[in-house]
Amino acid sequence: MRKPFIAGNWKLNKTADEAEEFIKSFLPLVQGVKDVEIGIAPQYLAIPALVAASRGSNVGIGSQDNYWEASGAFTGEVSAEMIKSAGCIYAIIGHSERRQFFGETNATVNQKLKAALAAGLHPIVCIGESLAERESGITEKVCEDHLRGGLAGLESAQMQTITIAYEPVWAIGTGKTATPEQAQEVHAFCRNLLEDMFSAEVAAATRIQYGGSVKPDNVKDLMAQTDIDGALVGGASLKPDSFAALVNFNK
Ligand code: 13P
Repeated sequence: MRKPFIAGNWKLNKTADEAEEFIKSFLPLVQGVKDVEIGIAPQYLAIPALVAASRGSNVGIGSQDNYWEASGAFTGEVSAEMIKSAGCIYAIIGHSERRQFFGETNATVNQKLKAALAAGLHPIVCIGESLAERESGITEKVCEDHLRGGLAGLESAQMQTITIAYEPVWAIGTGKTATPEQAQEVHAFCRNLLEDMFSAEVAAATRIQYGGSVKPDNVKDLMAQTDIDGALVGGASLKPDSFAALVNFNK
């Protein structure tokens, strides 16, 4: 019932030209894939090229962030409306790198999320614990804080277009994937929490992606877990072959 959703987070990689080159090789590799939703979030300046090159395809484009104000004196920011008007479908919000390096908090995630929803973007809200937090046994508490804080004040109906991405910080870019069982445990916890926060219907319908060193050789075991509905992929989304292998995990 939850359609698998594989999305690439390109972070600070690829010029617009490189993005265009990627998409030309990538589209034929995933042509005809209907049972998996596919997204790519490049840096802002590559969005127009990717939107143009992917028009009419089964690949949707997204941003890696958005500001909460629509316009005004906010030097350096890009609003959700601007992202939507550039042709984006998705917006990643609250990635751990933004929390770590750019002062993102649950409160700013919440503001950005509300702005993204108001603009009609489909948000991917990132949550997850650091290594120190896992080692001190507070993984669930951190995820609960991220979910309760990030999704505060939302109505059940607003959850329809939201995807949650569980990304344990210690697994990002380290080659250290959470085992499928470790990931499943947290995903199940998050789904139960969504039931408590919203309803059983919302909990059953909301997609929860796993992120952190997802590669073609571990994606199948992760996707086989009951509560893992997709992946948010960094490194392995940068090459057409490996990203296509992830999208085609069930082939
Ligand atoms: P890696 O796949 O490179 O570990 O990155 C995961 C991530 O942060 C996706 O948002």
